[in-house]
Amino acid sequence: MNFLEERILKDGIVKPGNVLKVDSFLNHQMDIALMEEIGREFKRRFADKNITKVLTIEASGIGIAAFVAKEFNVPMVFAKKTKSINIDGELYVAEVESFTHKNKNHVIVSKKFLHEDEHVLIIDDFLANGCALQGLISIVESAKAVVEGCGIVIEKGFQYGGRAVRNMGYPVESLAIIDAMDADNGTITFREQN
Ligand code: G4P
Repeated sequence: MNFLEERILKDGIVKPGNVLKVDSFLNHQMDIALMEEIGREFKRRFADKNITKVLTIEASGIGIAAFVAKEFNVPMVFAKKTKSINIDGELYVAEVESFTHKNKNHVIVSKKFLHEDEHVLIIDDFLANGCALQGLISIVESAKAVVEGCGIVIEKGFQYGGRAVRNMGYPVESLAIIDAMDADNGTITFREQN
């Protein structure tokens, strides 16, 4: 079991509806020593890639991506969520539907901060149905930049996002993949990873 799986077992709370609460250390209160370890682990997993930018999406991705960007010594850009947009040619835009919140947002990145020659590592806290991740991928593709990989902290392996993005040919590294959770007895089953 890796450091993140151990922490999830210690402090994660399984809620009904296949929701895992990790707000005591990951996406509300943040354990900064853990963030540093997450940053180092993504650096290790993508060590062979010449990453020039880290891309994430607001809100919860930002803190994590900052630590990853520090390890690679590159800038971090976060996509912003917005309900309405004026497409004035200065923005890359993707539409992202949240399965959990049942709403749609436009996700935008300024063309100033993503260029054709970039090698991008996409980072996010959760991968469930993959809508956010696919939106970020489409933004990188619009910029004609290269998606070198996707680094996810917690993947819900029983939802289809991870499979869909891997089938598209993008490398996805998830620090913990949850194959099952049970709110009645609090058990969490992780997928075996090398
Ligand atoms: P998807 O992008 O993979 O399709 O995710 P989905 O629509 O299913 O999830 C919507 C939001 O809920 C995302 O955050 C996602 O990170 C988060 N989420 C999904 N499953 C869980 C879970 O089991 N536990 C927790 N804590 N979060 C989960 P968001 O609302 O878009 O972003 P943010 O503003 O919270 O960062």
